[in-house]
Amino acid sequence: MKKELKLKVNGQPYDIFVKPKTLLVEALRDHLALTGTKRGCNSSSCGACTIMLNGMAVKSCSILALQANGAEIVTIEGLAKGTELSPLQKAFLDHGSYQCGFCTAGMLMATTALLTENPKPTKQEIKEGIDGNICRCTGYNSIIRAVTAVVKGEYKEAK
Ligand code: FES
Ligand code: FES
Repeated sequence: MKKELKLKVNGQPYDIFVKPKTLLVEALRDHLALTGTKRGCNSSSCGACTIMLNGMAVKSCSILALQANGAEIVTIEGLAKGTELSPLQKAFLDHGSYQCGFCTAGMLMATTALLTENPKPTKQEIKEGIDGNICRCTGYNSIIRAVTAVVKGEYKEAK
């Protein structure tokens, strides 16, 4: 039997009904049509499904949707302000930090959470911030360079 699930996602309230076994990634993609969050391994290994849940980076395949009841969630769709990309999004573009792009939403959410918690991470801390996210085609150096450019203040937040 479906149960009620209330979420605030990217600032917008949602009130939906999901099955008890529905994963949060399924609720976001299949019920709310927020398909920017990717579903890769479905077993907490790849990080493609990373979102921010109450300010923390979380793999949305690793929790049931109902466990997030009442939570505030940010997905990749919530990073830009209107048409203005976030500093990390701009830096990823400029530094070629993606090829197929499958990992990119998760990488951006993991690094957004990292910089929210620690605006001046060292290179080692950046590496640790993405150590739960697998990229199989770009490699990690261009991602680390993009995050480093944001840390150095080369990209400004949209007003
Ligand atoms: S799909 Fe969630 S960690 Fe891979
Ligand atoms: S850009 Fe293809 S997996 Fe990372």
